[in-house]
Amino acid sequence: MHFKPNYHFFPVTGWMNDPNGLIFWKGKYHMFYQYNPKETKWGNIHWGHAVSDDLIHWRHLPVALYPKEKTHGVFSGSAVEKDGNMVLFYTYYRDPGHNIGEKEVQCIAMSKDGINFEEHTRNPVIAKSPEPGTHAFRDPKVRKNGDRWEMVIGAGMNEKEGKVLLFFSEDLIHWYYEGILFEDKSTKEIECPDLLKLGGKEVLIYSTTRNNSVFYALGEMRDGKFFPEKRDLLDYGTDFYAAQTFFGIEKVVVVGWLQNWKAQYPTVEEGWNGVMSLPREVHLKDGELMVKPVEELKSLRRRKILEIETPGSYKIDVKENSYEVVCSFQERLEVVFKNKSNEEIAISTNEGDLVIDTTNSGISEGDRKKVRAKFKERNHIDIFIDSCSLEVFLNNSMVLSFRIHPRYPYNIIDVKAEPLSLEVYKMKNIWLE
Ligand code: FRU
Repeated sequence: MHFKPNYHFFPVTGWMNDPNGLIFWKGKYHMFYQYNPKETKWGNIHWGHAVSDDLIHWRHLPVALYPKEKTHGVFSGSAVEKDGNMVLFYTYYRDPGHNIGEKEVQCIAMSKDGINFEEHTRNPVIAKSPEPGTHAFRDPKVRKNGDRWEMVIGAGMNEKEGKVLLFFSEDLIHWYYEGILFEDKSTKEIECPDLLKLGGKEVLIYSTTRNNSVFYALGEMRDGKFFPEKRDLLDYGTDFYAAQTFFGIEKVVVVGWLQNWKAQYPTVEEGWNGVMSLPREVHLKDGELMVKPVEELKSLRRRKILEIETPGSYKIDVKENSYEVVCSFQERLEVVFKNKSNEEIAISTNEGDLVIDTTNSGISEGDRKKVRAKFKERNHIDIFIDSCSLEVFLNNSMVLSFRIHPRYPYNIIDVKAEPLSLEVYKMKNIWLE
């Protein structure tokens, strides 16, 4: 068995972390990512680059941005379109152990063809944090808000508090500081903030170094400050970080890194490390933030290999873990995916909770997550299993993501639920077609 994903984006060789510069530009989706081409661990970070017509099939493109020295890095950032050009914003990082000057500055690169990028002569466009005591200052995300451009930057202050700083500009080159947009004192740093509008509200998506989680805050903005009304996790699993939304499309589509900073995964033996999540659509329903798989993912279904309405133990004909399970049930559900070495993924409901257990799923450690779920009378669960990942969506409202590293395909499904309807689809391989 290998762990190379069949329908998730991954770097083929080397290391990958955060998605960067997500943009729909001139009819195509572009995705950049934090990339170390030479090693399977983090370091000497470049911006890798890929392009897609449909958000699903990706084609690798040449590396977009390079660090100038071994001890530098081109850290996370975003992309916008202006006057037909693609404009990238990134944090240029110089390891303070080997360099003098500012550790993190904000820069721009431009492209006319979406493949070759030129550094702006005015770099850095933000040379320093305006707030005293800043120890982390990175990951610029830019949006257009009326007739001004707004940039949020993730920060850490006084070695203990996470902040999001807000800047604005009229020309993308001159940036003015507006103030501290938001803070979270439970984490030392906020990374990869993303501010967007959704159904008349503002949403701030951000990652916290404490617990390696992605949160969203839903609320309003007044006088350059964000007032959250609700705050929760954007993903309740263990492996989802540094999420970012696309610039240039109507829908809000978010992609995250399907990993976390604590984990060590066996894919390094195959010469690669890092997977992206499936793209997810974020929307508001009755004032609640909902996350669902993007509609485009249905095009990945190759063929239905199981369709059942009775509980039992079923064998499916799969040589690889590359399938989607769609299941509807009423109150109780217990479903276990097993393989021939008794590794398993167990998903169940328990008095208003959804419980997912990956502790015996394979080579890597796994976890057991229990989350108060948004259950309904009739429930719908959508399970995506790929070679090294599991993403479980409940009622198009919430999602839990995990990395899994099983030795064999899970080809036995034990399911208990009444009434029940369960279908399994074999998925297409995004790399070969
Ligand atoms: C988040 C992060 C960012 C930083 C990048 C470096 O995972 O730590 O804050 O820009 O990764 O690779």
